[in-house]
Amino acid sequence: MSSFEGLDVISISDFSKEDVMRVLKTAKGMVPMATGRKPDRSLEGKIMSALFFEPSTRTRLSFESAMKRLGGGVLGFAQPEGTSIMKGETLADTVRMVDAYSDVVVIRHPHEGAARLAADFASKPVINAGDGAGQHPTQTLLDLYTIWEGLGKLDGVNIALVGDLKYGRTVHSLTTALSMFRTNLSFVAPPSLQMPRELIDQVKEKGLPLKMTHDIRDVINDVDVLYVTRIQKERFPDPQEYAKVAGTYRIDIPLLRDVKKNLMIMHPLPRVDEIAAEVDETPYARYFQQALNGVSVRMALLSLILGGTK
Ligand code: NCD
Repeated sequence: MSSFEGLDVISISDFSKEDVMRVLKTAKGMVPMATGRKPDRSLEGKIMSALFFEPSTRTRLSFESAMKRLGGGVLGFAQPEGTSIMKGETLADTVRMVDAYSDVVVIRHPHEGAARLAADFASKPVINAGDGAGQHPTQTLLDLYTIWEGLGKLDGVNIALVGDLKYGRTVHSLTTALSMFRTNLSFVAPPSLQMPRELIDQVKEKGLPLKMTHDIRDVINDVDVLYVTRIQKERFPDPQEYAKVAGTYRIDIPLLRDVKKNLMIMHPLPRVDEIAAEVDETPYARYFQQALNGVSVRMALLSLILGGTK
């Protein structure tokens, strides 16, 4: 895409490698504004609506922070309780309304495909902030930014995705994005939570090296990035199935004994028990910085979409 202005962001596959790099470079330039050191009013008068039908801390608040740091306004809801959705209003009608009240619509919804549906009913750009077990493209952009900042590159990176690769939308989008670069991927999951077949095929079609295992010790000492995820309890149709896999992985200090010196441990957060608190104090822990990067990356995206950055 030559210009981002007015575009929907539904799936990371809407982006080319060049588009991704454009967002990351724009995000780097946003850091002084994202941290409040430099004022920016470039989106003054613009309004972002945020429709969150599912719980969120970082995604919603960093989108709000990003819009406000650019001088824009924000409206929306953090849960559907208290809105006319509880009276039976459809997603389509809700979207039609906020489309008229704002300039860009950010939506998180438990159903896969909900953001695409919203985009069909909205005339303004729609940004997918997570649709069920589907996609989470803005998380992927901040994940890529964190790797690019930390290692100085994306091509050539050796990365393991660990945990719930079946239901985790962050790892779905991230796999698509990483297969645009010359990365070396490992999928570490219990067999019942391995990556969906179409994403495995996507990596293979690109001819990239791919390792699949359930044992984290098979890969932990070789990787540059360990991307750990939460088992997505809310997506399991049967609580007994969740009980079988809960607590499968736990990153602790003894497990890190022989890892690469510059290993980056990432996690989209929230974590439950996948990473022991003792790991937070090690130089490997990058998950809090990763979450902070969400503001500059979302500023870059909002600015490119709303015409604040040409
Ligand atoms: C993730 C999500 O909502 O998909 N959180 C986030 O946006 N940072 C990951 C998760 O809930 O496990």
